[in-house]
Amino acid sequence: MLPKGLRRKKSSACFLLAVVLILGTAGCGGKNGEEEATPSAEPGITAPATEPTEPASQPTQPEEPTKAAEPTEIPKEVRTNFYVSSLDEELPSLSEAWKDYFSVGVALTANELNNEFKTDLIVQQFNSMTCGNEMKPDFLLDRAKTLSEGTETCPVLSFRSCDGMLQFCMDNGIKMRGHTLVWHSQTPDWFFMEGYSNHQDAVFVSREVMLERMENYIRQVMEYVNTTYPGVVYAWDVVNEAIAPGDGEENGMRVDDSLWYQVIGPDFVEKAFEYARKYADPEQKLFYNDFNTYETSKRIAIVNLVNKIREQGNIDGIGMQSHIGMSSPTMDDYETAICKFAETGVEIHITELDIGLDSDSEENLLKEGKRYKRLFFLLKNLMDSGKANITNVTFWGLTDDGSWLNKDGKRYPLLFNQLLETKPAFWGVLLDDGIPLY
Ligand code: G3I
Repeated sequence: MLPKGLRRKKSSACFLLAVVLILGTAGCGGKNGEEEATPSAEPGITAPATEPTEPASQPTQPEEPTKAAEPTEIPKEVRTNFYVSSLDEELPSLSEAWKDYFSVGVALTANELNNEFKTDLIVQQFNSMTCGNEMKPDFLLDRAKTLSEGTETCPVLSFRSCDGMLQFCMDNGIKMRGHTLVWHSQTPDWFFMEGYSNHQDAVFVSREVMLERMENYIRQVMEYVNTTYPGVVYAWDVVNEAIAPGDGEENGMRVDDSLWYQVIGPDFVEKAFEYARKYADPEQKLFYNDFNTYETSKRIAIVNLVNKIREQGNIDGIGMQSHIGMSSPTMDDYETAICKFAETGVEIHITELDIGLDSDSEENLLKEGKRYKRLFFLLKNLMDSGKANITNVTFWGLTDDGSWLNKDGKRYPLLFNQLLETKPAFWGVLLDDGIPLY
């Protein structure tokens, strides 16, 4: 293993050159045909035809003995080893590679920051972070203190869970996505009850009281974070997962398991954004975040919701979580969703990217790398063609073993394995030549 100080010194210039060289075009919804079909020629990827070196008519020149020979084209070495230990070698940096396009983020749990090898890797690779859980309402709401020091309309919060993560970001120049303010999940039922009761026979507070609780919650989170760690949070997931067309509402809203909807009514999303805008720093961006955003009915409902909030001036972006599979969604459907969202005029964040691969065979890990490459190739093309303003891509976890998907220990969704080695997925995200696109 190289001494720590030496690990970071290798240049990533070759890699950057490769990224810059890859150019392409994309159209929204303009692609037809089978998703996995092999294109005869992929625009922008195939190397340009070699120029003739010497026109036939050109007179021969006498050789200059002192001049070095013209550089001949050196064939580029194509990577074949995809498993590089971040402990031994300096890796090209994802955030550096994509810096002209979007920030690159990672979701973490607080305890991952106790591992020095991980923090080295995080600082090297990412310029955005999301708390996997530590900034959610069930972590911030302090029931005991709310009962003793709060009021019926103002809960008491504690930020112990996320303080260390915010401090880490501040110390290392990493920005944070604030995740998440208003969500039906990971928000305790007692927050919706009279007297903050957690008894079985507890009753809901009125809509008016709940709106005040919501405003006071959002205000306190924003005031604390923005005062204690100024400039760290650059985007807030104001409302998470409020759309669930399966619940049968005309507007596509989640009803069945959303106490927010049940206590306040369908305008709880608009109210949340109104309060968020009121207390956010002016430069902070406000996002609506959801999963399976490429499903048609969900996509349409999100566009309608966002258009409404945009008219009120209270939203800046859509977060596409992107917990995707190996073959679903198709790249075409994913592209269509991005384009439809971009048409609303807001920014796009890919907020929780991972791929639900359930096999670690060499073949499948390579396929995963290929899928990541295709996805990033698409994102790049959408940006290059001005079709979408994608400003952040965040991976939902650092290593496979730490992924939320990995309850059975047999999931391989991310870019690094348990040993902090790169997987083909990492090189796919870098559009490395060693990973085939198709
Ligand atoms: O906090 C309790 C702890 O007290 C208890 O001892 C322990 C025992 O299992 O559970 C802890 O709660 C867990 C919590 O994470 C915090 O670690 C829950 O069981 C577990 O279900 C929960 O999972 C999180 C999940 O959200 C819950 O909805 C995942 O870690 C987190 O990655 C995941 O993140 C969500 C995004 O916020 C929104 N989009 C979907 C994404 C994946 O589900």
